[in-house]
Amino acid sequence: MTILAIDQGTTSSRAIVFSADLSVLAVAQQEFPQHFPASGWVEHDPADIWSSTAAVTRAVIEKAGLRGADLAAIGITNQRETTVIWDRATGQPIHNAIVWQDRRTADLCAALKAQGHEPAVAATTGLLLDPYFSATKAAWMLDQVEGAHARAEAGELAFGTIDSFLIWHLTGGEVHATDATNAARTMLYDIHRGCWSPELCDLFRVPMAMLPEVRDSAGDYGTTRPDLFGAAIPIRGVAGDQQSAAVGQACFRPGMVKSTYGTGCFALLNTGERAVQSQNRLLTTIAYQLNGRPTYALEGSIFIAGAVVQWLRDGLGLIREASETQALAESADPAQALVLVPAFTGLGAPYWRPESRGAIFGLTRNSGPAEFARAALESVGHQTRDLLDAMRADWSGAGDTVLRVDGGMACSDWTMQFLADMIGAPVDRPRVTETTALGAAYLAGLAAGLCPDPEQFGQQWTLERRFQPRMPADERESRHARWQRAVAATL
Ligand code: G3P
Repeated sequence: MTILAIDQGTTSSRAIVFSADLSVLAVAQQEFPQHFPASGWVEHDPADIWSSTAAVTRAVIEKAGLRGADLAAIGITNQRETTVIWDRATGQPIHNAIVWQDRRTADLCAALKAQGHEPAVAATTGLLLDPYFSATKAAWMLDQVEGAHARAEAGELAFGTIDSFLIWHLTGGEVHATDATNAARTMLYDIHRGCWSPELCDLFRVPMAMLPEVRDSAGDYGTTRPDLFGAAIPIRGVAGDQQSAAVGQACFRPGMVKSTYGTGCFALLNTGERAVQSQNRLLTTIAYQLNGRPTYALEGSIFIAGAVVQWLRDGLGLIREASETQALAESADPAQALVLVPAFTGLGAPYWRPESRGAIFGLTRNSGPAEFARAALESVGHQTRDLLDAMRADWSGAGDTVLRVDGGMACSDWTMQFLADMIGAPVDRPRVTETTALGAAYLAGLAAGLCPDPEQFGQQWTLERRFQPRMPADERESRHARWQRAVAATL
């Protein structure tokens, strides 16, 4: 039997078929259009999300030489926070999806903050009042689309993050559900009591009638419409992509931490059964929920990581392919000290400044493409260091941690070495780098009775390479201090 993972990301939809022992058998991927209707706004057409997901699922089943009936279970993992509202009767969205990167509700967040709501929001949801999360995006849509509030109150509209939206379509409208990890990103979910918060739904004016049912990350989400893939395939695993990567990296014990380098960078530290309330502007979130019991994590979210390399390519035209960046960085003049703060869409953790913008410091007449490339890659190491410092300050269990890395940028040896140097701790790169999809496949396989318990699954995790810190401590500290001065200038 095989397991299929759907990984619906920010820029592409992917489907991966795994064998029952969780080796990758086939992969299919499709990019879809991004829409930027105004400065700081980012939208997706939900029809593109659904059609690309269905297309890659069909493609991967064919590529693996299988039929739908050969799939024992489907696991779904997804870009988080991105918000869709649709008509329950027709399945038609009332507006484009508002993407997690979208900053249009910055003013609303600032107003709520000024009214003193942030402490209560943080205490209930583990999140901060930032446009990143779903609640203000949903509120904006309900306000902008005529009649939407009344229809939502009447139960005619459904709210969902991308997992809910896909489950709805996969099951032909039978199931309107989400898992606890995705619910935890909406800013409407009480992560301690494990239910939607009536007070927050009131505050954000999101009617509870439109919310999905919250289930375990490994659980029953119904079956796919038989006409879609030739069989009614059980959907058994659901998790937000960063939480899924933590599962795929087998971060099951308190103190284990992973960092994924995709568009952005998201570091999650497992804190076990304890929801640690951050004193350093990290998020408290749910890492996964099994058998009704949540495991919590501290999360640091950075909005620009891999995207900085895209900017070198598409914005500056300094490289043709992302893979050229490392060689260029290696050739940079060691005597120059360019610092790039990639606050292109504001700054996430631990600064949370939606209005900040990027900056570069230390330019000389000799600064060229190589120095820009090195500063871009180094910005990823510095940002991760900020997150780990905040984690260490928040929780003693984060002390001597090893960082497990994955995502596109983790392939760059140079970047990973700089990262180890900056955090002053080992960086471990696993043999399987499809960790996000692996996590979803594992959760589905666990619920379907095909995969072993987390402890045993964790023993299968194998190291490809460990990067040990090599930079002298005084150099590390002075370089990071320079970075922090540069950040301070953009705040
Ligand atoms: O919180 C946003 C995150 O889930 C997006 O991940 O990999 O699609 O950029 P990614």
